Amino acid sequence: MNPARPGPAVTTKPKLSAKAERFTESVIREMTRLALKYGAVNLSQGFPDFPAPAEIKEAAKQAIDADLNQYAITWGAKRFRDAIAQKFERTQGVAVDPEREITVCCGSTEAMMSSMMAIINPGDEVVVFEPFYENYGPDAILSGATPRFVKLRAPDWTFDPDELAAAFGPATKAIILNTPNNPTGKVFERAEFECIRDLCVRWNAFAITDEIYEHMLYDGARHISLASVEGMRERTITINALSKTYSVTGWRVGWAIAPPDVTSAIRKVHDFLTVGAAAPLQEAGAVAMHFSEEYYATLAREYAARRDRLMGILTGAGFRCFKPRGAYYIMTDISAFGFPDDVSFARYLVKDIGVAAVPGSSFYQDPADGSTHLRFTFCKTEKTFQAAAERLAKLKF
Ligand SMILES: Cc1ncc(COP(=O)(O)O)c(C=O)c1O
Repeated sequence: MNPARPGPAVTTKPKLSAKAERFTESVIREMTRLALKYGAVNLSQGFPDFPAPAEIKEAAKQAIDADLNQYAITWGAKRFRDAIAQKFERTQGVAVDPEREITVCCGSTEAMMSSMMAIINPGDEVVVFEPFYENYGPDAILSGATPRFVKLRAPDWTFDPDELAAAFGPATKAIILNTPNNPTGKVFERAEFECIRDLCVRWNAFAITDEIYEHMLYDGARHISLASVEGMRERTITINALSKTYSVTGWRVGWAIAPPDVTSAIRKVHDFLTVGAAAPLQEAGAVAMHFSEEYYATLAREYAARRDRLMGILTGAGFRCFKPRGAYYIMTDISAFGFPDDVSFARYLVKDIGVAAVPGSSFYQDPADGSTHLRFTFCKTEKTFQAAAERLAKLKF
């Protein structure tokens, strides 16, 4: 017998994980790749094309020069966790213990995944508002949760309280929500939170809130952290990150704030998934958390101007726009263009017109529900808007 030539395998089994087979690669990030391929103006993925604040970059450089280049504490550098706790109390009035209630992760993406893996058991359900940020689908699959979708309906993206109540039940482990919301621009109101709170209490469920756009607010909208609503402090996991607020999406620094017993489970998952987030960038994050209120006011003002600029361009080109009250996306209705669906229109737009946007179907479980929508981002410079305007002027409707 030749040991170098083994015989045929004696068992057959699936080559790949059944979980990994159940979702596709990110449509949003695919659009960015198509934008690069066709030289299109990229209004798809939500990353700014302007510089991050000089102070945060300087702080990162200083941290590297000071040789803060080894692993930070797995659940986050103390100075950074202290600063996160101070900011949460200053802005939302919620006091948290940085020693027992904060886990710093590799972006809010990992904070969400670690949180879900920390609380989900087989058979658990999670309620998810739809349209939803596309990561929540794979997050549910990978953590083993069954999603129950509840519609946010245009033009105001409100939900029907009866529909929400019907989605909750004994198997509900958590509700996932994102405010200010991607892709709709909805900013959840206190009365909506009280309705959600009552259901979470009734069914003993967690709320996982993704608050990554907390400072991008327009037309007097106010961000409320669900953890600040009476009765929710002990059952809310608050997810946030440096990514959007400080224009550093590539740094991959985020965090989860949760009660101590939940945090200890999140920390264990996080430790074995990634060990920790970039140590010098956490030091820079500590500096950023102490930026003055003026920084956040300017950020919101500048984004409001960008929103209005892109609304003008899109409306002029024939899109019906749903005006966002927060975050940095505009959801549009594309019915006027007469294409069969959002994907074919997005492909035409990126290839023939030279502008990349995200097909609405990527935010819905059933693609048909998003087939008349396209999402554009406005975290871009005037130069980008100008180029987009010139190209979109070629559109016929
Ligand atoms: C709602 C929402 N959550 C999370 C993320 C990703 O955040 P991070 O870069 O911190 O992982 C995004 C990015 O677009 C987002 O829109």
